[in-house]
Amino acid sequence: MSFFGQNFLGFIAAAALIFESSAWAFQRPQYELRYLDDSSQLRVSYDYVIVGGGTSGLTVADRLTEDGKSTVLVIENGPLVESPLISEIMGGFGGMGSGYTYNTMSVPQSHLRNRTFPVLTGRVVGGSSAVNAMMTVRGTSEDYDRWGELFGQGSSWNWKNLLPYFKKALSFTLPDPLVASAFNITHDLQYWGNTSHIYAGWPSFQYPGLVPAIDAFREVPGVEFPVDSGAGRAGVYWFPTFLDPKNVQRSYAKTGHYERINRTNYDLIADTRVTKVLFDGRRAIGVSAQQTRLNTTLLSNVNASKEVILAAGAIHTPQLLQLSGLGPKKLLESAGVQTIVDLPGVGQNFQDHPMLSTVQNFTIHPEPSDLFGESNFSTWAQEVWAFNRTGPYSLGVGNVAAWLPMPVISPTYHETIASKLETQEHSAFLAPGTDPTVVEGYRAQMKNLASSIRSNNTAFYSLSLTGSRAPGGASVFLHPLSRGTVNIDVRKPNATEPIVDYRALSNPLDVEILVEFIKFTRLYHFNTSLAAFNPKEIAPGENVKSSEELAAYVQRSITPSEYHPSGTAAMLPRELGGVVNESLLVYGVDGLRIVDASIMPTLPGANTCQTVYAVAEKAADLIKSRL
Ligand SMILES: Cc1cc2nc3c(=O)[nH]c(=O)nc-3n(C[C@H](O)[C@H](O)[C@H](O)COP(=O)(O)OP(=O)(O)OC[C@H]3O[C@@H](n4cnc5c(N)ncnc54)[C@H](O)[C@@H]3O)c2cc1C
Ligand SMILES: *[C@@H]1O[C@H](CO)[C@@H](O)[C@H](O)[C@H]1NC(C)=O
Ligand SMILES: *[C@@H]1O[C@H](CO)[C@@H](O)[C@H](O)[C@H]1NC(C)=O
Ligand SMILES: *[C@@H]1O[C@H](CO)[C@@H](O)[C@H](O)[C@H]1NC(C)=O
Ligand SMILES: *[C@@H]1O[C@H](CO)[C@@H](O)[C@H](O)[C@H]1NC(C)=O
Ligand SMILES: *[C@@H]1O[C@H](CO)[C@@H](O)[C@H](O)[C@H]1NC(C)=O
Ligand SMILES: *[C@@H]1O[C@H](CO)[C@@H](O)[C@H](O)[C@H]1NC(C)=O
Ligand SMILES: *[C@@H]1O[C@H](CO)[C@@H](O)[C@H](O)[C@H]1NC(C)=O
Ligand SMILES: *[C@@H]1O[C@H](CO)[C@@H](O)[C@H](O)[C@H]1NC(C)=O
Ligand SMILES: *[C@@H]1O[C@H](CO)[C@@H](O)[C@H](O)[C@H]1NC(C)=O
Ligand SMILES: *[C@@H]1O[C@H](CO)[C@@H](O)[C@H](O)[C@H]1NC(C)=O
Ligand SMILES: *[C@@H]1O[C@H](CO)[C@@H](O)[C@H](O)[C@H]1NC(C)=O
Ligand SMILES: *[C@@H]1O[C@H](CO)[C@@H](O)[C@H](O)[C@H]1NC(C)=O
Repeated sequence: MSFFGQNFLGFIAAAALIFESSAWAFQRPQYELRYLDDSSQLRVSYDYVIVGGGTSGLTVADRLTEDGKSTVLVIENGPLVESPLISEIMGGFGGMGSGYTYNTMSVPQSHLRNRTFPVLTGRVVGGSSAVNAMMTVRGTSEDYDRWGELFGQGSSWNWKNLLPYFKKALSFTLPDPLVASAFNITHDLQYWGNTSHIYAGWPSFQYPGLVPAIDAFREVPGVEFPVDSGAGRAGVYWFPTFLDPKNVQRSYAKTGHYERINRTNYDLIADTRVTKVLFDGRRAIGVSAQQTRLNTTLLSNVNASKEVILAAGAIHTPQLLQLSGLGPKKLLESAGVQTIVDLPGVGQNFQDHPMLSTVQNFTIHPEPSDLFGESNFSTWAQEVWAFNRTGPYSLGVGNVAAWLPMPVISPTYHETIASKLETQEHSAFLAPGTDPTVVEGYRAQMKNLASSIRSNNTAFYSLSLTGSRAPGGASVFLHPLSRGTVNIDVRKPNATEPIVDYRALSNPLDVEILVEFIKFTRLYHFNTSLAAFNPKEIAPGENVKSSEELAAYVQRSITPSEYHPSGTAAMLPRELGGVVNESLLVYGVDGLRIVDASIMPTLPGANTCQTVYAVAEKAADLIKSRL
């Protein structure tokens, strides 16, 4: 293997970076990068420097360079690697393997028996879109209306205004007509576009057990069945996979917004970590970066004449802001970082989707092998994959789930939970020393979420159906009330990873909601036609009955993350602890924008990737119109 040993999908050029510091100028270290014009050097200055070549970063880079003139440099910490086929991806959750993710652990979670948890995000060109489970879903209309409501009247952040960006972000492709009719996979093209090179595709196979699993939900009062996953409605519905149906390969930021593009104004450098945003007074003028592959400690500066754009994801964007002097002043002072702007919200308001494991053991008949008349299901599966790229190996983690609101989950108790939320002393549930503006923002969110608990169109509970085995499994908590923190370590501010504290279940009402989830999951399995399949509950176990026992089960079994970190540089009014305004510009400075999952003020009730793409599309338009 040569130094540039990986078989990258395109051109790889080694080039010298011109260092501003004359001390380094003669060293001319070799950087690994790809120039689409086969040029051999980074430009001395760019219009835009984008930090992070992940989901949002590559989307924005593609859109900004479409004019053929604006110069963009994307700086990505991870490597550039070949894209795997679906069969290789599905070998293990996380897809491309631990080599392509950050390997951080959270701090012990005090409400979860001090357990610690891996903080997974992508570290590769393509970012988390390269390693995710490829579920492509969006939240309900209320999830996006809530963002604008936190600004008051007249905000452009709502479902109606974001829908065109959802349509721009993805190209919808039709499911196989035979599969669609066998499983009643319906769609409505008014919610989709067909111009993007990121594809919402469908595998050619579904497990037959899904039919009774879906039908059982028809027996639960209040459950709706929207015809399309993109309709912004809560309910039970089919949704696509981030899959390019032509080659049955993961469709992600690198395939859609990078490798098909040949533009002389779009540069990317991999294996390079940005360590600081540079300011001239209060204007962001560039970044310092460090080449990681060569183990060098060389630092170089790249200038951005128009903007520095942060797309490092919700764990590393707040870290970089704090290291650059933007964050809670007290924290920065204890870390010995000079404050440029006291922005108390940076690294606060951290949210992710907790997962609650419940296990119901049963098999829905017919077995796949019965249905396909195949004596050896796996042999058949391997053959159809090898010959035709079809069958079970073309399937991701599944394409149908229930996304249900609290009035359906808990008809009798949700009102009590909503009332308790309204009368809580909110500051008591945030980290000690949280700034009053951040507390105000939390209060505003909780007021809004209390009405969402009463609403039939904010999904709180999600259960993915597999159909191959028992449909029971992890239910996902889509609108947790607890808020965590991502802060630099004041003792070791330059450590490569920040301190991640989910603070899961720090708001005790989260436990009450999760107890309702267990009761509902039981109702679905034992009080519908699914009961005919004779399920046995393995976890929590049928002997675990009282609310106290169920609460204890929640605390010892929950996982605080579905790998959807968000909210750590929230788009909120500054007096509510916001970090960016409605144009995604960072408060208190010029020329610095954030375009990644950190800006979401509250999580959508859905896996986050589709929303990240839509936000990035909107961000690109804001940047182009210099708003
Ligand atoms: C294992 C896993 C499974 C998931 N499953 C799903 C799913 O099925 N469906 C779904 O919708 N969502 C899923 N998600 C979530 C979704 O993929 C993310 O929300 C989304 O991709 C985040 O996009 P982003 O642009 O905010 O950050 P990312 O895509 O993570 O991009 C950030 C990039 O910045 C780089 N970076 C960080 N710091 C620096 C620095 N200092 N200098 C240079 N570069 C830096 C990183 O290496 C990374 O490439 C999953 C995520 C993971 C990790
Ligand atoms: C980059 O910006 C710095 C600070 O404004 C300036 O001194 C330097 O000349 C710039 N470099 C280039 C190559 O434009
Ligand atoms: C968790 O850790 C804290 C601090 O070390 C300790 O006080 C507490 O008793 C621990 N809790 C449990 C359940 O182990
Ligand atoms: C793409 O969408 C547009 C508008 O919705 C439609 O008119 C057109 O026929 C579609 N094209 C394809 C190839 O599906
Ligand atoms: C919400 O759903 C519940 C349960 O199906 C129903 O009783 C209630 O009337 C619905 N509320 C609204 C506002 O539609
Ligand atoms: C098919 O799905 C749609 C939308 O979910 C639903 O309205 C319809 O009743 C379903 N048809 C059958 C035969 O199940
Ligand atoms: C990229 O564009 C240049 C200039 O238009 C052209 O010469 C070159 O062949 C293109 N390369 C690819 C791979 O399309
Ligand atoms: C970088 O350092 C690591 C650990 O010290 C070592 O394993 C690796 O070979 C080094 N890489 C290079 C390119 O020198
Ligand atoms: C699940 O049920 C099957 C069939 O009854 C049984 O063989 C198996 O042992 C059960 N698994 C567990 C973990 O209880
Ligand atoms: C069934 O498939 C498995 C996995 O491919 C293989 O090991 C086994 O020999 C097959 N059995 C028969 C009876 O074909
Ligand atoms: C592949 O597809 C063709 C055409 O649909 C079919 O005739 C053939 O049997 C398939 N091969 C396998 C191994 O399933
Ligand atoms: C952290 O790194 C910066 C350079 O980026 C340096 O100025 C600072 O002294 C370092 N801080 C500590 C505590 O090592
Ligand atoms: C579920 O079924 C059990 C046992 O048949 C019954 O006791 C219980 O009342 C039912 N619950 C609901 C919500 O229907």
